Amino acid sequence: MIKVENLTKRYGGVTAVDGISFHVGKGEIVGFLGPNGAGKSTTMRMLSCYLPPTSGRAEIAGFDVFRNSLKARERIGYMPENVPLYNDMRVFEYLKYRAALKGVRGRRMKERVGDVMDLCALRDVERKLVGNLSKGYRQRVGLADAMVHEPDLLILDEPTIGLDPNQIRQVRELIRNLGRHHTILLSTHILPEVEMTCSRVMIINRGRIEAADAPENLRARLRTAGDVRIEVRAPDLEKAKAALLEVPGVLSAASTEEDGWGVFALGIEAGTDPREAIWNLAVSRRWAVRELSRTRVTLEDVFAEVTHPDE
Ligand SMILES: Nc1ncnc2c1ncn2[C@@H]1O[C@H](COP(=O)(O)OP(=O)(O)OP(=O)(O)O)[C@@H](O)[C@H]1O
Ligand SMILES: [Mg+2]
Repeated sequence: MIKVENLTKRYGGVTAVDGISFHVGKGEIVGFLGPNGAGKSTTMRMLSCYLPPTSGRAEIAGFDVFRNSLKARERIGYMPENVPLYNDMRVFEYLKYRAALKGVRGRRMKERVGDVMDLCALRDVERKLVGNLSKGYRQRVGLADAMVHEPDLLILDEPTIGLDPNQIRQVRELIRNLGRHHTILLSTHILPEVEMTCSRVMIINRGRIEAADAPENLRARLRTAGDVRIEVRAPDLEKAKAALLEVPGVLSAASTEEDGWGVFALGIEAGTDPREAIWNLAVSRRWAVRELSRTRVTLEDVFAEVTHPDE
């Protein structure tokens, strides 16, 4: 559905996007992550035919986005990061106007505007002036606008920015449902959201794609596999720490003491789970144990490692 080869965008001396290449298959929901200024919006704008690249190429559904941009645009629903809306139009008028601009007319227009208002839960505000809507509703109007011409591909630039937690959940559900019939490329800074919705993740940093894979594969590739936390009462906590460090798979041990209990955070080698061995150690040494738990690595850990490799 999306094919990008060596796409580059320079603004004066700044290289915002630096020769990136990737593919997105039909039906995928791909999360596009990266720190502020990494080049996400610039990439999305180029894919949506709003910005010409400095070099390289991109195809949407087989159409070159620059040479054949009208055809490509028909297939794309784009929600930009600052949704431009006409403040003095009513919601349903605005959506009709946007539908007409995209070539949706007559009965189909009425149907489509109705459908997207239902889908984005806009019926309650359909007669309100766009300028009087809350941020969350404006975002939903932007999403409805992106979908009104039934595009195969949705390119959503931070669709949940500024929404309250309930609305974030609703939009997340909506995106998941849309993913059944659409291909979606979405950028966001809310990483748990990506783990819940996306089948694949691309991490861009300083204009280059640093990682692209399923979230679980990205997590599996990290050097560590998260932490094991154990709290024990042992006669000598220093010796306990040394013994814990002997357990295969334990890479590091940070310890503190809380009212006589040793609290250990153990760094764990990827692909291992030493909890059983740790438990057996505790039993054999007759330590009392009040907690033994594992924290798995999250996409946030992956993001931190990929975008700040030196820290
Ligand atoms: N119109 C412009 N003129 C000059 N530089 C620009 C322009 N638009 C973006 N840039 C620069 O290009 C780089 C990438 O910006 P971009 O908006 O693509 O980042 P982003 O990944 O979307 O970041 P954010 O998470 O903050 O939205 C930044 O260094 C930015 O300052
Ligand atoms: Mg952006």
